[in-house]
Amino acid sequence: MSEAINIGSVDDIDEGEAKVISAAEAGTEDDIAVFHAEDGNFYALNDECTHETASLADGWIEGTEVECPVHSAKFCLKSGEAMCMPATIAARTHKVEVVDGDVLLYPNVPVAEQA
Ligand code: FES
Repeated sequence: MSEAINIGSVDDIDEGEAKVISAAEAGTEDDIAVFHAEDGNFYALNDECTHETASLADGWIEGTEVECPVHSAKFCLKSGEAMCMPATIAARTHKVEVVDGDVLLYPNVPVAEQA
């Protein structure tokens, strides 16, 4: 398993907002968006819509889904699954944990579905 990156306190990302971790910081090929979903949990996806690469961090979080700001594809934050057209390919997930009030991101550790 890859090393966790402490991306800050849970209070640093308001519910319904996202924080982008650069590919350079994460050691990944793509930037990662860490979302604070409306269920109170944190989830991470590649910050790139699988339709035409818009930033998902700029989208709208509703429940545990994010809507792409460009053509309105929706992705499940838990699984990365593309929920509606025009996206048909899942977004890549990365594991996130909250430990002692800090948000820990595990780049390149995929999550089938977080609890
Ligand atoms: S770029 Fe996201 S739906 Fe088209």
